[in-house]
Amino acid sequence: MHHAARESAGNNDVPEHQVIQCFTMICIGSSLIGGAPRSCRDSGGELRRPVALVCKHPRFVQPEARHRRARRKGLSVRMKSLVGLSAERPCPVLPAHLLANARIVPKRADILPHLPKGGTYVEIGVALGDYSETIMKICKPSMFIAMDIFTIHESKKIWGKPTEQALGGKTHEGFYRDRFKAPIDAGRMRVMPGDSAGSLAQLEDGSINVAYVDADHTYDFVKGELALLNSKVSETGWIVLNDYTMGNVVTTGFKRFGVIQAVHEFMLTQHWEMTFLALHPMMYCDVAIRRVA
Ligand SMILES: C[S@@+](CC[C@H](N)C(=O)[O-])C[C@H]1O[C@@H](n2cnc3c(N)ncnc32)[C@H](O)[C@@H]1O
Repeated sequence: MHHAARESAGNNDVPEHQVIQCFTMICIGSSLIGGAPRSCRDSGGELRRPVALVCKHPRFVQPEARHRRARRKGLSVRMKSLVGLSAERPCPVLPAHLLANARIVPKRADILPHLPKGGTYVEIGVALGDYSETIMKICKPSMFIAMDIFTIHESKKIWGKPTEQALGGKTHEGFYRDRFKAPIDAGRMRVMPGDSAGSLAQLEDGSINVAYVDADHTYDFVKGELALLNSKVSETGWIVLNDYTMGNVVTTGFKRFGVIQAVHEFMLTQHWEMTFLALHPMMYCDVAIRRVA
């Protein structure tokens, strides 16, 4: 958007209302990162009007003050990271044929009824097991493999709650094992603590029917996971990935995600197609992919 808008600024054929709209969007973002004043100077007088529009917005009444506050909160760093991300690592655009069979569903659990019933499921990054429980209830896997580094007890808080309280004073792994004692004892669940790369390497090729990937969302990690899953997932198997989005902009400690880039590259190079895109109110979407038949 940033580049597109700059190009539009120099293009006299663009209708004025489009230019204004375009720069309004830029300046909303840019005012958080300190880019609005620079954009205005760089592009001449035309850009001053959109800034005025932005400043009328209740959230931007005092741009300077807001800018200082945003800086203090680290928002500027987050927004810079987000904006810089696309330039640093361009994301390949998917060709239409890899999206031809894709459906959009309202939320991630709406993908689950479409996955194979029974079979072997692996969830990479189980946390406290909330989604493990949902997957087991809906998909009824004959074997559920839970992978996690199980270090949540080392953090003070989890999702805004004191960890001690969330885990009932147990270790992360202890909490998870207690929660799923019945399927573990029945031999329907296997818990594999440790880094998922090492755990995945222990599995037979082609032995996984569905993999749910929700651990570290950085580009290198997801790329590595997908490379391993390519051989571990059966010919007709599925990979579903959480956080198909640019980064974590909600909580403090902004983290860039690389799920979109890693998934697109994997689909293009390994010939997988998108089958579902599950929306999320904050666009922390899930994406499901399968091999092209
Ligand atoms: C977002 S949480 C998973 C949430 C869970 N899938 C759910 O929906 O309820 C991410 C989890 O990934 C785990 N994790 C992070 N890095 C990992 C790694 N390298 N290998 C395995 N698990 C990892 C974390 O310990 C954490 O429990």
